Amino acid sequence: MSAPKKLYIKTYGCQMNVYDSERMAESLGGQGYVETQSPDDADMILLNTCHIREKAAEKVYSELGRFKGLKAQKPDLKIGVAGCVAQAEGEEIMRRQPLVDLVVGPQSYHRLPEMEAKAGAGAKVLDTDFPEEDKFEKLARRPKAKRGPTAFLTVQEGCDKFCAFCVVPYTRGAEVSRPVDRVLREAEDLVERGVREITLLGQNVNAYHGAGPDGDMTLAQLIWELDKVEGLERIRFTTSHPNDMMDDLIEAHATCKKLMPYLHLPVQAGSDKILKRMNRSHTADSYLRLIERIRAARPDILISGDFIVGFPEETEEDFQATLDLVEEVTYGTAYSFKYSTRPGTPAAERAQVDPAEADDRLRRLQALLTRQQRQVQDSMVGREVGVLFEKAGRLPGQMVGKSDYLHAVHVADCDAQPGELRRVRIVSSGTNSLAGELIG
Ligand code: 5AD
Ligand code: SF4
Repeated sequence: MSAPKKLYIKTYGCQMNVYDSERMAESLGGQGYVETQSPDDADMILLNTCHIREKAAEKVYSELGRFKGLKAQKPDLKIGVAGCVAQAEGEEIMRRQPLVDLVVGPQSYHRLPEMEAKAGAGAKVLDTDFPEEDKFEKLARRPKAKRGPTAFLTVQEGCDKFCAFCVVPYTRGAEVSRPVDRVLREAEDLVERGVREITLLGQNVNAYHGAGPDGDMTLAQLIWELDKVEGLERIRFTTSHPNDMMDDLIEAHATCKKLMPYLHLPVQAGSDKILKRMNRSHTADSYLRLIERIRAARPDILISGDFIVGFPEETEEDFQATLDLVEEVTYGTAYSFKYSTRPGTPAAERAQVDPAEADDRLRRLQALLTRQQRQVQDSMVGREVGVLFEKAGRLPGQMVGKSDYLHAVHVADCDAQPGELRRVRIVSSGTNSLAGELIG
C-alpha cells in the first residue's frame, strides 16, 4: 500500500471556516489524505480563506507566494484556494497566482474529491457554483473518529440581509437552513465521538427555519430537540441578527438548561443615521429594548457584539452614539473593526471617512470595550459557574476549560477529565482567564 498523501489546511476567518475545513479534511480523507501540521511535507495545500475585510485577501496572496519554493521542489504538490476569497475572486486567483491548481467556493466543497482527482491529472480546476444538491449530505462525516469536548455544527448558511458593507450575501449566497433530522443525526454522531458542547453555526443562525416533521422549525425549536440528545451538555449558537431574535429563542434562554448564557448579537453602530445607511433595519433604541427583554429572561447572560467604525459618512457625533450605546449595554466581549471597502457592496461607492479619524475612533471604542470586558470578567470572582474541562493546563495538575459564559478558566490540583462538566468557584481574575476551584 502506498503511503498516505498529506494535506495541509490553513484556515482564516470565522468559525464556519473552521467547521468547513474539518469537513474538507474528512472528505479528502476518503481520497487517502491525512492531515499534516506543516506545509513542507504536504502533497496538497488548501487555504480556506476569508473575504470579510480587505487585508484577509491580501494575506492569502502573500501566503500563496511563499509556496513558490515548495512547488519548485515538488512539482506534484497541489495548491488550492477555498472559502470566500475563492468565491469572490474565482479565476482571478489563478491569473494572479499561476501556482494555484484548484479554486473551490464554499457551496462546492462536496465536489472536492472529484476536483482533487482532476488536479492530480494535471488540470486547473475551478468550481464556484451555487449547486442545488445538499453539500452537507454529500460531505458525510467519517464515523467514529474521536473528538474533543467541543464542536461546531453548521445549521444555516448564507444571508439575505444585505448590510451595505458586507460580502457574505455574495460569497455564501442566499440563506439556507439544514433540515432538523440531519442536524440531529450529526449532533448525535458528534456526541458519540466525545463531544459535550455544540455551537450551532450560521451567518444568520437565528433566522434558522429548517424542515422538521411537521413543517419548518425555528432555532429555538431545534435547540429543544437538541436538548433531548443524551450526553450533550451544552448548546451555543452564533451569529444572530437583532431582527431575528424571536420570542421563543429569548424564552429558551430562560428555560433551557443546556442553552448557555452567552449571546453574540452584533449591532455594528449606535447612530440611527448610520444604521439606516448600513441597511441594518433596526435602530439603536430597538436594539437596546431587545437587550432589555433578553436580560429580563436571563439576567446573567453575557452579551457579545460586533462594531464597525468609520463607515462612510460617520461623523464624530454618530460615533459618539456608538459609545453611548456601548455604555448602556455593557459588553462581555466584542469585536470591533475599521470599515473596509468591499468591492461590489453598496457602501463601496460612498465617500470614505478620513482613515486617521477612523483609526482614532477604533482606538477609543476598543479602550471602552476592553474596560467593559475586564469589568465583566472580574465580576465573575466569587461566583459558582459550570466549567467544561477541555485539556491539561501549563502547570502540573492544572486543567483548563470554558465557563458557561465562555471565559477560559483554570483549576489547580484538578481531578476533572477532559469532557467533564463540573461546578467551579471562581477565585481570581487574570489577564485572559479566570482561576477557580472545584466545588464538591
Ligand atoms: N468592514 C469592516 N468590518 C466588516 N464586517 C463585515 N464587513 C465589514 C467591512 N466591510 C464586520 C462586521 C461583522 C463582522 C463579522 O465583520 O462587524 O459583524
Ligand atoms: Fe453580513 Fe449583515 Fe448578513 Fe451579517 S447580517 S452576514 S453583516 S449582510
